Amino acid sequence: MDDKDWELFKDKLNKKTGIDLQLYKEQQMRRRINNLIQKTTFKSYTAFFNDTVKDKQRFADFIEYLTINVSEFFRNPDKFGMVESDIIPYLLKKTDSLNIWSAGCSIGAEPYSLAIILKELTPSKRHRILATDLDIEIIGKAKKAVYTGDEIKAMRADRKVKYFTKTPDGKFALKPDIKMAVDFKRHNLLKDPFESNFDLILCRNVVIYFTEEAKAELYKNFFKALKPGGILFVGGTESILNSRQIGYETYKPFFYQRPMK
Ligand SMILES: C[S@@+](CC[C@H](N)C(=O)[O-])C[C@H]1O[C@@H](n2cnc3c(N)ncnc32)[C@H](O)[C@@H]1O
Repeated sequence: MDDKDWELFKDKLNKKTGIDLQLYKEQQMRRRINNLIQKTTFKSYTAFFNDTVKDKQRFADFIEYLTINVSEFFRNPDKFGMVESDIIPYLLKKTDSLNIWSAGCSIGAEPYSLAIILKELTPSKRHRILATDLDIEIIGKAKKAVYTGDEIKAMRADRKVKYFTKTPDGKFALKPDIKMAVDFKRHNLLKDPFESNFDLILCRNVVIYFTEEAKAELYKNFFKALKPGGILFVGGTESILNSRQIGYETYKPFFYQRPMK
C-alpha cells in the first residue's frame, strides 16, 4: 500500500464516482481507508478497489463509509426551511431561550445553520446550541469553521455574504458571532450519557451506519432527552419505524415530538 498505489486508487475512485480525495484531508481519509482495508485480505488500495467495484452493494457501502463526515450548510434546504418557518417559531411559543442539540454534527454546518436561523428570527435572544460528534478531528474543523464553496452551496447568496469572509485560498470563514453561538463537545451517541431538557434535537445522516438495535436504543434515549413538547429532527431517509411504541407523535414527516404529557 505505497504512495503510487494510493495515487492510482484516488484516480480510479474519482473517475468512477466523482469523489475527489484530493479535496479531502489526505491523512484522515487514508487512515480511514487503511482501517477498512486492514480488515480484509487485500494487499493494495487498487486490489481492494478493483474487487469492491464489482459488487454494487459493497461498493455503495464503501462510499458511505468514505462520506461519513460529509455535511453542508442547510443540508436538505426544504427541511431547514421548515425548521425556520415552523419548528423554531412553534418552540419559541413555549420558551424564550431554546436548548438545542445537534448530535453527529460533523464539520459544524448543521449547528451553525441553526445559529444563523436563530440569529435572524430572535436577534436579541440567547439560546444554547450543543453540537457533538464522535470524531475529535472533525470537531476541530467545526471549531475552525472554514468551509469550501461546496459546503455552503445550499445557502442563499445574501447569507453567504453576511456570515462569511473569503479567505486568501478561496474558502469561506464563518464570522465570529455565529461561531460563538455553538458549543462543541466530543460525545459517542452509542456510549456516553445524554443531557436532557432539549427543545430540539437534530440527528441526521448519522444512524445510517448503526444496527437496528442500536438505533432503537438511541431513539429511546433521545425521547428521554427531550422536554415534553420537544422535537427530534431526523434525516431524509431515517423515519423511525417504532416511533409510536417509544412514545413519539409525528409532528411532520421527519420531525418527531415527545408529547406534552
Ligand atoms: C454524515 S455526518 C452527518 C452530519 C450532519 N448531521 C448532517 O446531516 O449533515 C455523520 C457524523 O456522525 C458522526 N458519528 C458517527 N457515529 C457516531 C457516534 N456513535 N456518536 C456520535 N457521532 C457519530 C460521524 O463522525 C460524522 O461526523
